[in-house]
Amino acid sequence: MLGNRIRREDLKGKIVSAEEAAMLIKDGMTIATSGFTPSGYPKAVPLALAKRAEEGEEIGVTIITGASVGDELDGALTRSGVMKRRFPYQTNKYSRDAINKGKLMYQDMHLSHVPQFVDYGFFGKIDIAIVEGLAITEEGGIIPTTSVGVAPHAVKNAEKVIVEINTSQPMALEGVHDIYIPERPPYRKPIPITHPKDRIGTSYIPCDPEKIAAIVITDIADKVRPLGAIDENSKKISGYIIDFLEHEVKMGRLPKDLLPLQSGVGSVANAVLGGLVESKFENLTCYTEVIQDAMFDLIDAGKVTVASGTSFTPSEEGLKRLLDNIDHYAKHCILRPMEISNNPEVIRRLGVIAMNTAIEVDIYGHVNSTNIMGSRMMNGIGGSGDFTRNAYLSIFTTVSTAKNGDVSSIVPMVSHVDHTEHDVCVVVTEQGLADLRGTSPRERARKIIKNCAHPDYRDILMDYLKRAEKGRFMHEPHMMGEALSWHERFLQTGSMTIK
Ligand code: COA
Repeated sequence: MLGNRIRREDLKGKIVSAEEAAMLIKDGMTIATSGFTPSGYPKAVPLALAKRAEEGEEIGVTIITGASVGDELDGALTRSGVMKRRFPYQTNKYSRDAINKGKLMYQDMHLSHVPQFVDYGFFGKIDIAIVEGLAITEEGGIIPTTSVGVAPHAVKNAEKVIVEINTSQPMALEGVHDIYIPERPPYRKPIPITHPKDRIGTSYIPCDPEKIAAIVITDIADKVRPLGAIDENSKKISGYIIDFLEHEVKMGRLPKDLLPLQSGVGSVANAVLGGLVESKFENLTCYTEVIQDAMFDLIDAGKVTVASGTSFTPSEEGLKRLLDNIDHYAKHCILRPMEISNNPEVIRRLGVIAMNTAIEVDIYGHVNSTNIMGSRMMNGIGGSGDFTRNAYLSIFTTVSTAKNGDVSSIVPMVSHVDHTEHDVCVVVTEQGLADLRGTSPRERARKIIKNCAHPDYRDILMDYLKRAEKGRFMHEPHMMGEALSWHERFLQTGSMTIK
């Protein structure tokens, strides 16, 4: 079963049960783990740790991951009360609930900041790294599995390392990864990536074998999430983006094979990429964070030559397709540390076209990606800020209404700001596309209302804008008292419409 997964004899003596490995974790520790989306995260040790608390032990820890992870980590450690503090992103319903009830301390962070926070000591001492590995090399290096995330920085900075060798992960993943850790300032050099296909590091995470305190063998598979079916709205959004990109090529502002694409998480993002399969674009490249199902379609259609990211984030069917054809997809995919996949320097150099999803957008182009009605944390900003702020072109998509039409996703003022008017180039809903480049705020507002708002909300948005324009200051006119009344109206009456 183990084959050549542990390639150093001296490390074989470190194999222990998940329960024994979990005993290395003490109350108050800070634990950094592998995992990015429900891919490549440790499973057996977190489950064993949760069991200790369920059996009555008082234990609380801080958890740092790459991004969201599966239920064996976020869910089990939230339900058992072990996880007291969490960085930097989550999507688990139990964690989300605990955060919104104030029981779990959470800092929602730009993902590119996390590895350097670990490396600079901003989180304090990292007591233990728990990393899922495919295998351990002769040098003691850890070969990651379906994601890389913050694992290289966790291993570098932790006092002790626990490795979960996961035998459900196919050995054909070996060679997919490219691990590079930049030096700390003032010694940092330019990151030598000038094309998404560039490989600049090692195929394993370097690790001093002395630091490996325990090795656990497991076969618990990644608990991937389903992707929603590609619906009419997503198809329309995808269509507007493709028309826009074609127009940019015609205007000479984009090369005919475009520039590297980044596409966010979720069904709309997946649909947008999926739409490119039928487009006339060829020889596309992706410099992105997550590699979702649509990427496999693009690779199979010969449209995408290389996809660089930090994790495979497939649906259940996508995972089967990936694992059954891993030799094929491995030729086109590179998984990097999130410090590199989301690196502002590289994103700006490559000229990435960033496409992310908003919860709501305001008439002046500010975007809320995280907090519903201003204070209910959904997931987190993830990598959307890393890409948006540094992109060649930044695009935000959202369906124009939510909650069966009772909420307009276009509002006078967003209830929480993640991306500012200064960072957002294009907004797209199923109603249409607003190109905000080179516009003043009031020009922008008219474009967003006319092109993106749902017809049910267009008149009341224009009415708001015109009344605001009667105020004293004409740069970005608002009626402060009224600006957020839309959200309050929804909370009080269940609808943003005026009855
Ligand atoms: N007002 C109030 N609620 C809204 C809303 C709005 N304008 N828009 C959406 N919602 C609610 C939905 O009703 C749903 O609520 P529910 O969970 O109670 O059913 C929830 O928000 C999620 O909406 P959904 O349309 O299913 O979202 P999604 O799967 O398309 O994800 C984001 C949208 C913004 C939450 C998601 O893309 C995200 O977390 N983004 C931030 C991170 C990111 O961009 N990462 C990628 C970088 S590489």
